[in-house]
Amino acid sequence: MKVLIIGSGGREHALAWKIAQSAGVEKIYCAPGNAGIAALAECVDIKAMEFEKLADFAKDHEIDLTVVGMDDPLVGGIVDVFESKGLRIFGPRANAAILEGSKAFSKDLMKKYHIPTAAYETFDDPASAVAFLEKEVKFPVVLKADGLALGKGVLICEDLEQAKAGVRTIMEDRQFGDAGNRMVVEEFLTGREVSVLSFTDGKTILPMTSAQDHKRAGDGDTGLNTGGMGTFSPSPFYTDEIAAFCQEKIFQPTVDAMAAEGRCFKGIIFFGLMLTQDGPKVLEYNARFGDPEAQVVLPRMENDIVEVFEACIDGTLDKVDLKFADNAAVCVVLASEGYPVAYEKGKEIRGLEQFDGCPDKFVFHAGTAFRDGKIVTNGGRVLGVTALGDDLFKARANAYEAVKLVSFENCYYRRDIGKAIDE
Ligand code: AMP
Ligand code: GLY
Repeated sequence: MKVLIIGSGGREHALAWKIAQSAGVEKIYCAPGNAGIAALAECVDIKAMEFEKLADFAKDHEIDLTVVGMDDPLVGGIVDVFESKGLRIFGPRANAAILEGSKAFSKDLMKKYHIPTAAYETFDDPASAVAFLEKEVKFPVVLKADGLALGKGVLICEDLEQAKAGVRTIMEDRQFGDAGNRMVVEEFLTGREVSVLSFTDGKTILPMTSAQDHKRAGDGDTGLNTGGMGTFSPSPFYTDEIAAFCQEKIFQPTVDAMAAEGRCFKGIIFFGLMLTQDGPKVLEYNARFGDPEAQVVLPRMENDIVEVFEACIDGTLDKVDLKFADNAAVCVVLASEGYPVAYEKGKEIRGLEQFDGCPDKFVFHAGTAFRDGKIVTNGGRVLGVTALGDDLFKARANAYEAVKLVSFENCYYRRDIGKAIDE
């Protein structure tokens, strides 16, 4: 088989690494890819939103399967374009990817189908949002831009003043662009967060092992929200009992709700959950693997991932026995100082070769490029250093040991990834 991966981050590097182990795969392409992915796949200089070019490439190169890592092309309808040309592709169509693409849609879906989530209201104009905030709400309150905003469109506001400023940011200053055409105002939930990624063929849903992300830039969950500064898997707080509840009350009902709405979802549903005192509630849905959740979940997966992708497309996921190793993984993201705001690029990265051939530690490239025969930094998140271990404590120790193997100027990373397991 020839496989094309769409994307260029650490998640796509982890996907390429996992797909390369599949028995039937002879060649991998990645558009656009990065310097790390280039070791596993031929990188193709086409951007993720250039659907026609990508489809032409897939036709010309007789690609058997395309796997989409990123949210933007899914929400934008890449699957519809490929399918209309008879090309096989893994991921939801646009009418299903809206589960991630519109927070108002996903909240209304949860309300209609009684899927546990925070109470909310949706607004199309700033004046009515402010009027609501002045009267109705308890603080803190959560404001969410409706559309895609690189994981940054969520504002937690401590008081009315902040909330009014938040409405301005989203709906008037339009800091998140068109994502701020609508806005959700949501009840603030407390508890432990857990990410559960799952495969679905539109009928059956198979959850993968759990993970926890660290979204804030700084140690102790301080600083700005980022795409994710590190992950661990599994989450010790996600017990079998909670998993059974989620399967019955959240996962299967979500797939069934989408089918009932005529929006059959095939692909990955990523459930961002809060384990509250009143039970698990959905914080958000994503229509793709998490980044850096994929970097800890995929190294623990025992199945041939291409077989699972195919079962999702063919509607035979009920025949798949999804298996994960009884171990743990921790990923520490090495970022450029200044991320997520402003940072320099083009710094040489040293020590990458020390990961070559290692079975239990990996360096997934998030933002890297080649320059003058060297590998240099090319993004805010640069590398995801991931290590396995028999348990979370060992995996974390191994990951922080592995971090020392690589270096670049202005490297910044959190020192407390996985600290929650000490509590
Ligand atoms: P989201 O993009 O919806 O996952 O939101 C990003 C982050 O904001 C989440 O990972 C949570 O840490 C936080 N968050 C989102 N919604 C809520 C909520 N209703 N209550 C508390 N925190 C939230
Ligand atoms: N790490 C969070 C996300 O991928 O959305």
